[in-house]
Amino acid sequence: MPLTITPTPRGLEGVVAAQTRLSHVDGIAGELIIGGYELKELAGRVSFEEAAHLLWRGALPGTDELRELRREITPLRALPEDTMRVVRAAAKAPPIDALRMACATLSLDLPDPDDIAPSADIEAAKMLTARFPTLVAAHARISEGKELIAPRADLSHAANFLYMVHGKEPNPIAARALDTYWVTVIDHGMNASTFAGRVIASTRSDMVSAVTGSIGALKGPLHGGAPGPVLDMLVDIGSADRAEAWVRNELKAGRRIMGFGHRVYKVRDPRADVLSKVADEMSAVHLEDRKLFDMARAAEQTILKVLDEVKPGRNLRTNVEFYTALVLQALGLKPRSFVAVFACGRVAGWCAHVIEQHTEDHLIRPQSEYIGQRGLGLER
Ligand code: ACO
Repeated sequence: MPLTITPTPRGLEGVVAAQTRLSHVDGIAGELIIGGYELKELAGRVSFEEAAHLLWRGALPGTDELRELRREITPLRALPEDTMRVVRAAAKAPPIDALRMACATLSLDLPDPDDIAPSADIEAAKMLTARFPTLVAAHARISEGKELIAPRADLSHAANFLYMVHGKEPNPIAARALDTYWVTVIDHGMNASTFAGRVIASTRSDMVSAVTGSIGALKGPLHGGAPGPVLDMLVDIGSADRAEAWVRNELKAGRRIMGFGHRVYKVRDPRADVLSKVADEMSAVHLEDRKLFDMARAAEQTILKVLDEVKPGRNLRTNVEFYTALVLQALGLKPRSFVAVFACGRVAGWCAHVIEQHTEDHLIRPQSEYIGQRGLGLER
């Protein structure tokens, strides 16, 4: 019987590509469920390590389980020499590219990289999650010609990252802000990078290969690469009273406004709410951050108004990246590293999806609709 091919919407919009217990995005209600909990239930109330356990094991850890997870992850933070060689070779590359290249080397360190049994996958997940912050911090230090700082076992995942980047222990507000940020972005339904990772895993390929592919998908400005440009935009706008003219000009030139619009959310992204509170708290520390935050909040309202007017019916609302830019800036991180810092949180979610896809064990292999010519003949 001939196979019927049904044309799908462009970009698979609205297509259900997998069943998952990990997270759910309700773009109409503006809700994000992670492992059964609404984001607002988790953010600021559980640590990143607890959220990772929730995704990998299906439940939040008890006190002993959390202690055990931390005891296992902490020694994995240090990077093998082979990986460090790649980080050094990529010193001039953008941090997200360095992360992708270095991530690919991490299978060298696994006893059997092709073992995709759930237990081996969880070990690989711990290793990748433990090392991503070390990779990003090492690359930041090397690219600025600074001394490397070894990870510290007595600090939390988030505090240790800030320590390795800045060379001093962060204040608790900063460590908590980064922790909340990583919980907020840990997983988000069938986004492009997660889908890319699941496609790779569906071929029974290994965890490191899948996560390396996910990094490549995250990098683009339509996905995780937006917060750097958001900050450039805010700097360019300069003051709230210039926002309207600025945004009208961009839209007239056919450019997109970074930090606005989403494939699924037709209302405000719930992660923007969480992160605007975090950015607000963070900006209490430095006057410059407070000025930027106040300006951004006022500019946001103007941008939304103009988007509604110029792009009516498209429901373009603030997405996660708008306030991500302010949080990461207030943490003293460089805009070029923003997407790599995002990956440090999302990696735990990618790993959970790879585990789920390996368990599902079904090849993802869609069809394409051929729109090229047929019946051409060679004139030779
Ligand atoms: N600024 C201006 N116009 C926009 C924007 C925007 N940010 N987003 C969408 N539009 C317009 C498009 O130009 C299009 O207009 P048209 O109908 O006149 O042609 C219409 O809205 C629909 O656009 P699509 O590209 O079909 O919408 P899609 O759902 O594919 O886009 C996306 C989602 C890619 C996130 C888009 O909103 C965008 O480019 N936003 C800016 C980049 C950004 O902030 N990315 C981060 C997303 S969050 C994340 O991935 C972690």
